[in-house]
Amino acid sequence: MCGLGRLLRVLLERDQELKLLADLLAGVGSSGGKVVLVRGEAGIGKSSLVETFARAHEDGAHMLLGSCDDLLTPQPLGPFWDIARREASLFQLLETGDLRAMMETLLGLLSRKLRPTVLAIDDTQWADEATLDVIMFLGRRIARTNGVLIITYRDGPVDIDHPLRQVIGELPPNSVVRVHLDRLSAEAVSTMVQDTDLDLDAVLSLTSGNPLFVAEVVAAGVDTVPLSVQDSVLARASKITHGARRVLELVSVSPGDLERSLIDEVLDATQEELAKFKDKMSPVYDWWLTKVPGGKKYIEFAETHH
Ligand SMILES: Nc1ncnc2c1ncn2[C@@H]1O[C@H](COP(=O)(O)OP(=O)(O)O)[C@@H](O)[C@H]1O
Ligand SMILES: [Mg+2]
Repeated sequence: MCGLGRLLRVLLERDQELKLLADLLAGVGSSGGKVVLVRGEAGIGKSSLVETFARAHEDGAHMLLGSCDDLLTPQPLGPFWDIARREASLFQLLETGDLRAMMETLLGLLSRKLRPTVLAIDDTQWADEATLDVIMFLGRRIARTNGVLIITYRDGPVDIDHPLRQVIGELPPNSVVRVHLDRLSAEAVSTMVQDTDLDLDAVLSLTSGNPLFVAEVVAAGVDTVPLSVQDSVLARASKITHGARRVLELVSVSPGDLERSLIDEVLDATQEELAKFKDKMSPVYDWWLTKVPGGKKYIEFAETHH
């Protein structure tokens, strides 16, 4: 993406969160380092928040940004390869796979005195185990550093069984600050559609104020579901298990209420599969509810049966 385009883009209704991050960064010397947990649904603006914060403070702090990816072959320490592009001292450690040395080096970077350090790990719902170990190690020691560790993750997938949940549970409560990103208000959405011919109410009902979906609708210039959004929904649906997808198909075409036992019998769907479907689809529930034939029924079903 063109750098200037990104620079000019304004984040709506995120002043409070940006100020909170700025205050934490300014306070590391007096109050100690912090872990900031930024969570919210897909497209809500987690990455944008971190990038905007990083840009605004890149002169005053060392910025180390890395992302986890939803790879079919998970890479150990994935986000630290991103960071190594800026912090070459990490390259050799990544190549040798020396996890302990890696942790110590990162702790050293976070403890630099002259300028504070921000270490941000995006999309941690996809973190590999080694990355989670690093987060745990750094998070438990963050108070004594001169740094801020920002961890972003999606709401839905990080449920009670998710390994990230256990990492979060082990962090010292005094070191943890939580940020939950909400959908945009009607005012913000109206700002985003103001130079278009789009009907505000139609965009609101289609997107429910999810900034990514609003941006896509604005870019497409039509208040129907743009192809890019359909693609992202289908990409999600393609990851659900075969059994859950067949349940979805059956429920979508069924005229009346379905008994769970009938579904089990016909489709062999397990509760786990239904729960997974719910997680995968959660960011687009509203769209699914209103736009997909039978979607409402399916969601209600998945919600009451797992
Ligand atoms: N607060 C906001 N105001 C306006 N647009 C936003 C805002 N947050 C996100 N966006 C738009 O939505 C898109 C998706 O945001 P992103 O940060 O990638 O979401 P996430 O990382 O939570 O999936 C961004 O490219 C941006 O265009
Ligand atoms: Mg993101």
